[in-house]
Amino acid sequence: MFLSLIVVFLHLSCTCGENPAVQIMLTNKGLQYGKHEGTGWIQEKLEQITFPDISGEINIWIGKIYYTLSGVTVKKCDLPEPDIEFVQELGVKTSIAGLNIALTGEWRTSFGVIHDGGSFDMAIFGTDLTSVVQLGSDDQGHLSVTSISCGASVRDVSVYFYGGASRIFQPFVKYFKGHIISMIQSRICAEVEEATLELDHHLQAMNVSFDVNEVLTFDVPLTDPPAIDASNLKLGFKGEFYSIKTHKEPPFVAQQFVLPEQAGYMLSVGISEFTLNSASFGYFSAGELQVLINDSMIPPYSPIRLNTSSMGFLIPQLPKMFPGLLMNLNVYAREAPEFSLQPGAGNLGVQVLVKAVAIEPNGTQVPLFNLNIDSNITGKMMIAQGKLMGSLILNNITLTLSSSEIGNFTTGPLENAARAAMSLVLQKLNVILQKGILLPRMKHVQLVNTVLKMQKGFVAIYSDVETLQTDRSSYL
Ligand SMILES: *[C@@H]1O[C@H](CO)[C@@H](O)[C@H](O)[C@H]1NC(C)=O
Ligand SMILES: *[C@@H]1O[C@H](CO)[C@@H](O)[C@H](O)[C@H]1NC(C)=O
Ligand SMILES: *[C@@H]1O[C@H](CO)[C@@H](O)[C@H](O)[C@H]1NC(C)=O
Ligand SMILES: *[C@@H]1O[C@H](CO)[C@@H](O)[C@H](O)[C@H]1NC(C)=O
Ligand SMILES: *[C@@H]1O[C@H](CO)[C@@H](O)[C@H](O)[C@H]1NC(C)=O
Ligand SMILES: *[C@@H]1O[C@H](CO)[C@@H](O)[C@H](O)[C@H]1NC(C)=O
Ligand SMILES: *[C@@H]1O[C@H](CO)[C@@H](O)[C@H](O)[C@H]1NC(C)=O
Repeated sequence: MFLSLIVVFLHLSCTCGENPAVQIMLTNKGLQYGKHEGTGWIQEKLEQITFPDISGEINIWIGKIYYTLSGVTVKKCDLPEPDIEFVQELGVKTSIAGLNIALTGEWRTSFGVIHDGGSFDMAIFGTDLTSVVQLGSDDQGHLSVTSISCGASVRDVSVYFYGGASRIFQPFVKYFKGHIISMIQSRICAEVEEATLELDHHLQAMNVSFDVNEVLTFDVPLTDPPAIDASNLKLGFKGEFYSIKTHKEPPFVAQQFVLPEQAGYMLSVGISEFTLNSASFGYFSAGELQVLINDSMIPPYSPIRLNTSSMGFLIPQLPKMFPGLLMNLNVYAREAPEFSLQPGAGNLGVQVLVKAVAIEPNGTQVPLFNLNIDSNITGKMMIAQGKLMGSLILNNITLTLSSSEIGNFTTGPLENAARAAMSLVLQKLNVILQKGILLPRMKHVQLVNTVLKMQKGFVAIYSDVETLQTDRSSYL
């Protein structure tokens, strides 16, 4: 279950040697919560266990009675809360003490030509189970889980036979009880090993990369095997976005960062600026970072129109050379916008090229001038009440004329206009960011008590989780 929980958070998926750009830490508190939530799930699993037929023979003075117990199903099981703990540099140890199980089934005996049969009830008392699983990663970066030790012991078994000549051989139960106990003991660990194998197959089948939208794909193989100590489990993921179209590697690599431990949370997540910048580079390399701005996109209240006649105060010669023509601005990112994260705030540097054209009545586009605009935006982010909130301010904007078909002009007024337009856009974004954006919810779990801290080079998120009431069997 604790594994399933992790799996739910992220579609897990070793590109060894790289620095992990996304790190996840599951603390002991998270493990205990997972266990608590998972106990019911284990109970359901136990109730579905199928037992193979148990057969054997009993020697009585006058011959042998052959017996078979078949169709054994669990009627009720009473699962005490298991103990679960991290095992340093290995994995996870689970112990269950004092598990009682009630079973029911059919019995058949044969003694020479005499066949008999009926039903029986069986109670298994005081079952103890200790299982240790090792967590690792395979060469494709999937999390792997292997059962490395399992021990089970059953204190006692009682069996009551009904029907047929059950009264006669009920007294013989004591002779074959030992056989039944050893059958059950070996069956329990076989079930644990099968369940572990099933979970491992499930993990191997998971995608280590998935498409986020039609532009980007997100690669999240593990970069290293899980790091486990007595208090937590750390997973490091590649955490890189690519353009689906180009799948081009960005000209920068993930820097190492250390996700600080913060006591009291179930889960910590660190997302490096590399992850953000790989997304930005993905959009850039896919050619998505360009936009055409025409007059109908300018809000009606704006004093500036994309009409050569209203540009006189910015570019005096323009209305004289091309009177009364609409204009288009083709805006292209010159570089992938770059995030740089600092304690408490982040910066986003955006460098664009703006190509301004005039549109003749017959539709011909006449090139006017090209501008380089470099801006730098500072943003703060926080998580409160389950929402991502923030604020953006324009830190710096500079505008330079890179080429012109209409002669030289001073760019100061145009820079002011660009600053005003940019501030307006950020103001609108701030209204949205102040209201907050609901954090994405997963099907089975939601984040609660979430805190976000911006650090040098990464964002740290600390959180507890809460499972939502759903069908438990669908965790896997
Ligand atoms: C894995 O990815 C492939 C292709 O992107 C997709 O068809 C498949 O459904 C995914 N499998 C899972 C389990 O998400
Ligand atoms: C401006 O662009 C939009 C969308 O690209 C288009 O629908 C609209 O007709 C254009 N307006 C003018 C005046 O060209
Ligand atoms: C541009 O603005 C001028 C003056 O406001 C106006 O006369 C002209 O019709 C406008 N051009 C277009 C194509 O809207
Ligand atoms: C943005 O501006 C800040 C402060 O002026 C500076 O420290 C930072 O390096 C700039 N970032 C980019 C991406 O230009
Ligand atoms: C469009 O009009 C302009 C001037 O009005 C003229 O110079 C140009 O040749 C015309 N283009 C076409 C394709 O008609
Ligand atoms: C604004 O950017 C320019 C060039 O990018 C730089 O020289 C200047 O120091 C920046 N100003 C501030 C206040 O960051
Ligand atoms: C263009 O104008 C700017 C300022 O108005 C001036 O610094 C620059 O030298 C001029 N360039 C040319 C080529 O005239």
